[in-house]
Amino acid sequence: MDAGVHGTGFTARELSWQTGSEITGLDLRQADATAQGTIDALWQLLGQRGILLFRDQTLDHGQHLAFTRRFGALAKTGLLGRHAPPGYPDLFMVSNIKTNGIRSETENAAQQWHSDQSFLEVPARASLFRCVHAPQYGGDTMFANMYQAHDALSEGMRAALRPMRAFHTLFSSRTLARRARKPFSSVQEDELQRLSGALHPVLRRHSDTGRMTLYVSEQMVDHFEGWSVEESAPLLDYLFALAVRPAHTYRHRWQPGDLIMWDNRCSMHYAPIDYDFAALDAPENRRLMFRSTLA
Ligand SMILES: [Fe+2]
Repeated sequence: MDAGVHGTGFTARELSWQTGSEITGLDLRQADATAQGTIDALWQLLGQRGILLFRDQTLDHGQHLAFTRRFGALAKTGLLGRHAPPGYPDLFMVSNIKTNGIRSETENAAQQWHSDQSFLEVPARASLFRCVHAPQYGGDTMFANMYQAHDALSEGMRAALRPMRAFHTLFSSRTLARRARKPFSSVQEDELQRLSGALHPVLRRHSDTGRMTLYVSEQMVDHFEGWSVEESAPLLDYLFALAVRPAHTYRHRWQPGDLIMWDNRCSMHYAPIDYDFAALDAPENRRLMFRSTLA
């Protein structure tokens, strides 16, 4: 159904039952000239729908950042700084294209479900991901709706989870990268204690919509506060599986010129590794994306 939004300067069409809206009628190159009422309406819709899709936008890096800034301050890129395009430290480049014969480590980014920067005390509010080159197939991004995950919990389970907090860290025992480096050792356990992470409520209220969300992710969450990793695992496994049930997800097949804005407070995302690996270096399989992040 077309859900026209009147008086906001754009039209919104739902991408799936609960998740995502496609926005038409806006030229994002004109970010600075866009009415504040339009920006406010986009932000409000983002909180409700989790992701907004803009198609056929041919932005350069400066225009991408100018549009991002209309919604607030940019997040520090932190670890991602080394993947910024030259001259644009606030952008994160994700690509499967080789540079000097070497493939970017970002090719395998987002192989586990997560919301951006949940390992920080104050995680990123939203992220804006822009497609320059899309493979002929593969390179999709999947999104999970964390309102739906919360709403699928029984009243009894919600009551049990309500007082609980979970520890989010980039060095979670579930993080593939960490496991690939080395199995558990006492040295790594000591390291883990020192490395940064943050405790967040398992059930969180979205600060704009007031709706409750489930806030745990496979990539970042290591354990519940006061629980061991082992004790936490069965319940976390259940919650992770519930969150990403197919009925709670939207899968996006990218086209050049797409820009997707997602709300990290009520969604998770994931990159299925669905490339044609046998022909990854063929020009038609190139993938080049840029992300900006809101603090
Ligand atoms: Fe991400």
